[in-house]
Amino acid sequence: MILPGHDPRALAQALECLRAGGLVGLPTETVYGLAAHAQDDAAVARIFAAKGRPADHPLIVHVADAQAARAFAAEVPAFAAALMQAFWPGPLTLILPRRCGVAEAAAGGQASVGLRCPDHPVARALLQACRQAHPPVLGLAAPSANLFGRVSPTRAAHVQDEFGPDLLVLDGGPCPVGIESTIVDCTRGRPVLLRPGVLTPERLSAACGQKMLLKEELPNQMGQGPRASGTLESHYAPRARVRLVDRAALGEPDDTRASSAGRLALYARHLPAADAGRLLRRMPDTPQAAARDLFAALRELDAAGVTDIWVEQPPPGSDWDGVRDRLNRAAAR
Ligand code: TXA
Ligand code: MG
Repeated sequence: MILPGHDPRALAQALECLRAGGLVGLPTETVYGLAAHAQDDAAVARIFAAKGRPADHPLIVHVADAQAARAFAAEVPAFAAALMQAFWPGPLTLILPRRCGVAEAAAGGQASVGLRCPDHPVARALLQACRQAHPPVLGLAAPSANLFGRVSPTRAAHVQDEFGPDLLVLDGGPCPVGIESTIVDCTRGRPVLLRPGVLTPERLSAACGQKMLLKEELPNQMGQGPRASGTLESHYAPRARVRLVDRAALGEPDDTRASSAGRLALYARHLPAADAGRLLRRMPDTPQAAARDLFAALRELDAAGVTDIWVEQPPPGSDWDGVRDRLNRAAAR
């Protein structure tokens, strides 16, 4: 059931559900999460089962502030503390060495833990209430509230579409960021960008005084990156086939329609003139607005029954990295 996230009674009900080992659909500024008590291994197992996600793929633990993060992190290097200071609460997840014996199931058994302090009034209110409970709940493990490999939800109704009416979902409105948090690995002595988001490498580097390494730039001796399903090549995929095309190709005749009798949609900043056979949806012009619209657009085009979605390539520039990354993965199927 969907309850208004700003209603104290709904928050109290969500808290009770979490304390009893249940799951709650939680709005954050990035996407909706499927939350459970991070230190309750049985509750965390319910997340993996509901999503169909492999149990060794670690979840992000959401905390009320940097102080609560220290209940999970064994150590916080200075550059990571600077990133928390600059961007928390906000769309940034830090991978830190995990304290022995805490949130092991949520961390997928890894020696590290992903921590994020979300900036959404409903998430913040619930995390505060969790911290004040007896005994306190210091963290909520929450992956994006979608089935494994599918498009992340940015509306309460999307969460219900994925998991059905029995799940308690707090409605916090449309997510203002719209794509998942930027992930920075802080376990290797230098910050490594694992998943691009709306925070650009330039902003992150400026805030912590260290250049962000990209995964591809990792020297061999630093070892393989940790498992991260959000970093699998194919992910975030709608049912329809996604193809990235240049602006010039948008007006071209549609070969897929001829070959498969399917229905084509265009999602583009530069739409050609209306054309009876194709569904047209405008992609917003700024990277922030495009991120906010992206997953809802893919879901709506799926719901409209299209078989193919041609998406105009985003323009160059690091401020489009997050949107470009999600589109590349949606197309890699
Ligand atoms: O914006 C977000 O980050 C959303 C909202 C709900 O907070 N959450 C989210 O969670 O996107 P999820 O599970 O869909 O993606 C989290 C990513 C995964 O790719 C996971 O593998 C990675 O974070 N991750 C979590 N803990 C990790 C760890 N200890 N080491 C490496 N990667 C980790
Ligand atoms: Mg996800």
